[in-house]
Amino acid sequence: MLAHVHNISIWYDDVGPADGIPLLCIHGFPHDHRLWAPQRDTLSKTYRVITPDLRGFGASGTNGPYSMDQFADDLAELLTELGITRAVVCGLSMGGYIALALWRRHARRVLGLIFADTKATADDDAMRTKRQQMIAMAMSAGAGAVADAQVTGMVGISTRLEHPELVEHVRDMLAAAPVEGIVGALEAMMVRPDSTPLLATIGVPTLCIVGDQDVIAPVKEMREMCAAIPHGELRVIDDAGHVSNVEQPDAFNEAVAQFVARL
Ligand code: MLT
Repeated sequence: MLAHVHNISIWYDDVGPADGIPLLCIHGFPHDHRLWAPQRDTLSKTYRVITPDLRGFGASGTNGPYSMDQFADDLAELLTELGITRAVVCGLSMGGYIALALWRRHARRVLGLIFADTKATADDDAMRTKRQQMIAMAMSAGAGAVADAQVTGMVGISTRLEHPELVEHVRDMLAAAPVEGIVGALEAMMVRPDSTPLLATIGVPTLCIVGDQDVIAPVKEMREMCAAIPHGELRVIDDAGHVSNVEQPDAFNEAVAQFVARL
């Protein structure tokens, strides 16, 4: 389905009982709503699961501006379009950066927070240099080259050894991302603020989930992030890397379902 918010059309899927607790799932970089297929299929039996494509990705429009704040504003407006006052906001990696921006700018819309495989800190200089290189790669060689460069870090060693079909599935999703969205999101992530000071202000129940083999948002960093959140609880998923929801969907879904049921 398509919603027109701000200056763009945002594609979204909205499944589950209309009176169920709304769960807004925000994909990472350079993903699209398909990241959440294992959650959509299971959690929608109980909850209203909304999985948008962020601007620049999937079937959404690609025009800018791009920033974590703009992504967050798009999603707040989408909730309004859908008649949803408050939702549980679940963001993976870049989706977590956007969930932090939603809390910063639209806290009244947030019933609970789920941060998956993400971090609160800003990029350092080394990461900004890597992002510049990736922008150059996307513009010269396309999304397939970015997918090849990214996919190994996206999944854990267990998945690489035991589930090559999942690695291929994730690679296909990354390779489908529009170059405009890749470049826009990379530029936006480079300048995102350090959200560490924001963590102490989070006044809603919060679940932090991380794969034990995540090399992009390591367990140590997520543990520190979660400890800084007043009502934060941490769940470490065994045998999973950065896309823990895809690699170990049963454990991920169980953690989310237990958390949401207590709200
Ligand atoms: C993601 O999965 O969204 C990215 O790894 C985030 C990032 O590059 O910082």
